Amino acid sequence: MNAAEAEKKILSLRETIRRHDRLYYVEAAPVVSDSEYDRLMKALETLEARFPDLATPDSPTQRVGGEPLSDFPSVVHAQPMMSLANTYSREDLMEFDGRLRKLLGDKPFSYVVEPKIDGVAVSVRYEHGHLVQGATRGDGLKGDDITANLKTLRSIPLVLSVPDGDPPPVFEARGEVFMSKAGFIRLNAERVEAGEAPFANARNAAAGSLKQLDSRVVARRPLSVVFYGVGETEGWGAETHIDLLDALAALGLPAPPRRWHVATMEEIFPVLDQLGSERHTFDFDMDGAVVKVNERGLYDALGATAKSPRWAIAYKYQAEQAETAVRAITVQVGRTGVLTPVAELEPVALAGSVVSRATLHNADEIRRLDLRIGDRVFVEKAGDVIPAVVAVNVQARTGSEKPFVMPTVCPICGGAAARREGEVALRCENLQCSAQIKRWIRHFAARGAMDIEGLGDALVEQLVDEGLVRDPADLYALTPEKLLGPQKGDQAQGSLFEADDPAHTPRAAP
Ligand code: IVH
Repeated sequence: MNAAEAEKKILSLRETIRRHDRLYYVEAAPVVSDSEYDRLMKALETLEARFPDLATPDSPTQRVGGEPLSDFPSVVHAQPMMSLANTYSREDLMEFDGRLRKLLGDKPFSYVVEPKIDGVAVSVRYEHGHLVQGATRGDGLKGDDITANLKTLRSIPLVLSVPDGDPPPVFEARGEVFMSKAGFIRLNAERVEAGEAPFANARNAAAGSLKQLDSRVVARRPLSVVFYGVGETEGWGAETHIDLLDALAALGLPAPPRRWHVATMEEIFPVLDQLGSERHTFDFDMDGAVVKVNERGLYDALGATAKSPRWAIAYKYQAEQAETAVRAITVQVGRTGVLTPVAELEPVALAGSVVSRATLHNADEIRRLDLRIGDRVFVEKAGDVIPAVVAVNVQARTGSEKPFVMPTVCPICGGAAARREGEVALRCENLQCSAQIKRWIRHFAARGAMDIEGLGDALVEQLVDEGLVRDPADLYALTPEKLLGPQKGDQAQGSLFEADDPAHTPRAAP
């Protein structure tokens, strides 16, 4: 293949990959399998490696950055990144409406309601359609240049989609980076297993991820973005906020999944109820609704306070909380031996499900909460999903509550538990611990790994307790005979695995 042919092929592969990125990340309607996508990406990488002159910074292959930075450079925002005035009450919304009517006289206007995403505010700058800079809000006037990190998010296009005509010379999109709820649960579980402190919620996890100086770490974090506004623009305009949201989506920038255009404040109240009832269906944490004037031509006349524009207000939903009692604190043993204390709760209804257990992460967390067995506690769903004890109702103490002491031995196998240097967690050091073996086998058989159909918790429990499986290799040595017998008490056949069985020399750490 000569350079001209390679260039043609490279351009076409980039176009195809960008189309698939858009279908997957913006429209949530992928048309190719992951392996087909990987094949396209590999082909592009190979060609760019063979023809390095044809590699460009906006190629889809450039998503994962290079060497870690030592610090983030500062960015002065071309237009300040403001905040929003907050309210928890509907009366305040009526007052907000009254203020606008006074300021605008008889000028007609309408409202748009959209979800308030609980993430990290970012600004992404495109020049002539190419992503040139990504920044955090910082103090509103100056933020951190996190371009390399933002480039790893596949939901942020490296090139704007402008099928006909030229892209605007300058287009800054403003939005919120968030960690998906499922991704947050997975990441926290991995951190606990690695003996690291878990993130308190998905927003902290997103913020912590964007602060990483090594963009290769960021690339592995399940981050996405939603855009809801613009900063500096040149050669672009929109008369209404609805048009702005449509324009964002047309350019390939993910816009909020829901929005309502209403004529009056009175019509907003049922919308707030509706949005509130949908909050659990979004992949991001939603901590409220944002109410914005739709007519952008009125924004200058309305102006801003020192911190926030007068044309918008955030209505925050109260975090759903429930009070219940801690019946006991048990200790779970993870795949790598990490001991995790868990609060066993009096079952209580919370945000759409009944909660009876809440992870306490580690002994430090119990100390921080000053939690005792028998306490009455307040529970919330961290990141809308994982039940967490947020506080103790100290007033409700009767004196019969008992302090919890983290065991120094594994509650399953009795092996010694120790804290490794630099870790907050205690670990069972016995690699033959049946709890660890069970977690190991489950991990091995899980969908993201060997995907062994039917090998769920109950079966793993049975196989390990019966001594039929002690490591993943044993799964492949199972036969119908082994599964059916030996019957209990059948001394003639003995145990399936004798202590000196050469196939069962001590295994390496999982
Ligand atoms: S509009 C000029 N819309 O909430 C300010 N902000 O608490 C324009 N946020 O700073 C902001 N979802 O980081 C807007 N749909 C949304 C939002 C949203 C989340 C964030 C944003 C803002 C903060 C204020």
